[in-house]
Formats: sequence, C-alpha cells, structure tokens
Amino acid sequence: MIVPSSGILFLSMKTYPSASQIKVGVVGYGGAFNMGRQHLQQMKDAGMTPVAVAEIDPARLAAAAQDFPGIETYATVAEMLGRSSVDLVTVITPHNTHAALGLQILEAGRHCVLEKPMAITTAECDALIEAARRYDVLVSTYHNRHWDGWILKALEVVRSGALGQIVRVDLRMGSHGKPGSWWRSSRSMSGGILYDWGVHLLEYALQIITAPLTEVSGYAWEGYWAAQPEASFPSDANEDEAQLVVRAKTGQRINLTITTVDVTPKRGFVEIVGTQGTHLIDWNEYETTLALPDGARQITRGRQPKDEGHRFYENIAAHLTVGTPLVITGEWARRPIHILDLAVQSARQGRALPVVHP
Ligand SMILES: NC(=O)c1ccc[n+]([C@@H]2O[C@H](COP(=O)([O-])OP(=O)(O)OC[C@H]3O[C@@H](n4cnc5c(N)ncnc54)[C@H](O)[C@@H]3O)[C@@H](O)[C@H]2O)c1
Repeated sequence: MIVPSSGILFLSMKTYPSASQIKVGVVGYGGAFNMGRQHLQQMKDAGMTPVAVAEIDPARLAAAAQDFPGIETYATVAEMLGRSSVDLVTVITPHNTHAALGLQILEAGRHCVLEKPMAITTAECDALIEAARRYDVLVSTYHNRHWDGWILKALEVVRSGALGQIVRVDLRMGSHGKPGSWWRSSRSMSGGILYDWGVHLLEYALQIITAPLTEVSGYAWEGYWAAQPEASFPSDANEDEAQLVVRAKTGQRINLTITTVDVTPKRGFVEIVGTQGTHLIDWNEYETTLALPDGARQITRGRQPKDEGHRFYENIAAHLTVGTPLVITGEWARRPIHILDLAVQSARQGRALPVVHP
C-alpha cells in the first residue's frame, strides 16, 4: 500500500496470474486503417483475451463481430463499462475524444490504453494520469512506433557515439497537397496539423535528446486550403503548415515541421545532426554520413531493421502479470503532448513558452 503526501490511500495495483486472464476490449473499430483489428490481434498475440468492442457506427461494430466471432459488441462505452467484465480498454477514436473516454474508463476502475496522441492538452494528460493513480489502474499510450526499425537503427547509431555530440534533431513530414475530407483535417477533432504524425516524431526525438527541455516556440500558417471552394472544414481547418522548435538546457534543439504547402520537400523525414556526423531516416533506408579527420565523408546506406511494435502489448501484459516496468508510462506519453500544446499556444501568442516539468 502506498501513502502519498496528499494523504489519499492507494492500493498497489492488482496483478494477474497469467496474460490470458486479462480481458481486453477496444473503443472505436474504425475503417481508415483497421486499427481496432490490429489492436485486438496484437493483444491476443501478447496472450491477453479479447472480449469486447464499443463502436458508435453499427457497420463497424458488425465488422468487429465478423473479425472476432463471439466478441461482445456495445454501441457506447458506458454500456460496455456497465455490462462487460473487461479489464483493459484501448481507445482508438478521433483525438478530441481521447481524454473524456479515457477518464470514463479509468473511473470505472479499468486499465486504459489511449491511441496516440494521449490527448490534446497537457491538462487533459494530467487529469488522465491523476485518475489512473486515484483508481489504481494503468494508463498508457499506444506508441507502437517506439519500436519502429527506423528509430531502433537511429538509436543504435546515436548510442555508438559515431555522430559525436547531438546538436539537433530535425523532423519533417508532408508536401504540397489538399488535406483529405476526414476528421484528421479538422482542427477541433485532430488538435491541429502537428498532432497526428508529429506526436510519433517527437516521441522519437525525446529518446535522442534526453536533456531537460526549457522552452517551445510554435509557428503556424493557415487559411490557404481553407479558402479553396471545396474545402472540407472551411472554418475549422488545420493549419496549412505548422512548425515548432524545442530548446533543451544543453543548447540542443528539436525542430518539427508538418506541411501541406511545400512543393519541394527535402529527402528523408528525420535527420539527426551531431558534431561528427548526420543520420538520415529516409523511410525504409537510412544514410549515416561521418566527417573523417582528412576532411572526406564516409557514407553508409542500408535497409532499416524490422519494426517491433508488437512489443508494446507484450510489455503491457508483462507489467500486469509480473510487474515488468511499463515502457510507455502516462508521464512519458504526456511529454510530446506538452510540447504540442505549448507550440499551438506559442503560435497564437507569437512568443516562446516555458516547458513545465510535472
Ligand atoms: N499508432 C498508429 O500507428 C496509428 C495508426 C492509425 C491511427 N492511429 C490513431 O488511432 C486513432 C483512430 O484513428 P483511425 O484512423 O482508426 O480513425 P477512424 O476514423 O478510422 O476510426 C475511428 C472510429 O472511432 C469511432 N468512434 C468515434 N467516437 C466514438 C465513441 N465515442 N465511442 C465509440 N466509437 C467511437 C468512429 O465511429 C470510427 O469508427 C487516432 O488516435 C489515430 O491517431 C494510430
């Protein structure tokens, strides 16, 4: 039993004798990337038992019933929490719904995994972390890309010391093109253009630049696509392009740009610049360029290693059975959201904002 300074009593978290006794479910079984099926399959592969799906779209609920015969199906999360004995629920819905659905699940005493981004604001993340503590359950975020071959290879190169001291990490995604008509293009539903891929990219960068962060500057350009006659969300569109710069105490920095208005995007989407070399992640290929003492360059190119995203749910199952430390804690998932939240506010206010360490 843990007695924190607040005086509230917490029971130590219940562990399960085996992974198969952890009953799991999902909220949201969308068709865009069939993520509900991917989650339930990975949970099953990690030894846990899929039992329930909640989805507001009847056609997608029917798809879940077909993929997992015999699974309980619910039209709302409230109905699922009231009637199902599900132990762990993963939320796979548009970004603006994560915080409220997550709180509902945690307050029902169930473990909760949220798809990335954990939520849209820092305050929402703090409320989720606090609820998990209060109800003595787990909160995590599905940062499956923590185990992408792209970043596993980059970390191997960085940790070998070959690049020298790391000066900056440049993260960029996008080119010139009209945003789609899906919820991802709505600012109120997505959180803004930086939130979808940006959260994955920041989660990479935070593994490379580990020094304390001090401030975030955000920049935004908007109105170009929203003014086009066939714009999907004319008054609620994402920015056309947004950028952020994070300053670390060491002088290192992280630059992130996501764009829909760049006709000539640069090659590769993650570039790690060190005092002695640069490592470029160019989708399934990497390129490491080192400065040799004689002024020449040594370039190594190769295929990226395989993704190991399945390790996310293996870690969740190991945590809930034998107490293996959680890799993606609520506190870790909060870090990129705090940066994104500050960047949005900074762009509006036109000045850098300080990072608040919890
Ligand atoms: N980790 C990854 O690699 C990865 C890949 C794709 C998507 N995602 C994330 O997954 C989440 C969902 O994205 P998507 O592409 O699957 O979207 P989607 O539109 O295909 O699916 C969302 C589903 O949620 C349902 N839904 C919405 N509100 C609901 C509610 N209150 N209760 C129950 N169901 C509800 C919708 O009916 C829809 O079927 C997002 O957070 C996205 O960023 C992550």
